[in-house]
Amino acid sequence: MTYAARARLVVLVSGRGRNLQAIHAACVDGRIDARLAAVISNRAGVPALDYAHGVGVEAVTLRHEAFRDRYAFDQALTEVIDRYRPDIVAMAGFMRIVGAPLVAHYRGRLLNIHPALLPRYPGLDTHRRALVAGDAEHGATVHFVTEQLDGGPAVIQAAVSIRADDDAETLAERVMRQVESKIYPQALAWMARGELQLDAAGIRFRGRRLAAPLGAVDLEAAFR
Ligand code: GRF
Repeated sequence: MTYAARARLVVLVSGRGRNLQAIHAACVDGRIDARLAAVISNRAGVPALDYAHGVGVEAVTLRHEAFRDRYAFDQALTEVIDRYRPDIVAMAGFMRIVGAPLVAHYRGRLLNIHPALLPRYPGLDTHRRALVAGDAEHGATVHFVTEQLDGGPAVIQAAVSIRADDDAETLAERVMRQVESKIYPQALAWMARGELQLDAAGIRFRGRRLAAPLGAVDLEAAFR
């Protein structure tokens, strides 16, 4: 499937917005053929919102605490997202679990990035957990969002080596700089070109079934 016009992208954030910055930069320089229609945060006053304001992208705050439960928040969030008529919705450091109705509504167009080599370390505190386990490598994964937390089909993942002197902060910083900031723009570029589809059996990439996630070797030159 290709989009009739330039794909419209909505990014969901909660915090610093480093993934958002990498995605926005790639939209601006044309590596991602999409227009960043809006940035939506479930937390007020976070740096990601300042960034969106600063670059003239529509920025919306929808505080989850203002809603009586998860489903009420999800419903409001869906309404806000849909105002921007997105072809693609990207969770980028969005620290909120979404429920089944929202997931079903955006099935096949909702992506997340998780800072781990899934299926290892779904959930929080991934960098510390990889260090405690004595892993040789750690990384990040872009995946389609399904009802299973951090468990949807993986599009791309890439790793960095863990160093003897790493702590959770140094490792997180290297995963962000060397992996997250590259693989997420790349996955969104493929999405925007209509090269990635999710169906009942899993992911199709350029018309072929993806048996395993793509990797660093599959990054196009512009994303390396
Ligand atoms: C990233 O590591 C992201 O993968 C994780 O939270 C962190 C947020 O970073 N879920 P940022 O907001 O993109 O700077």
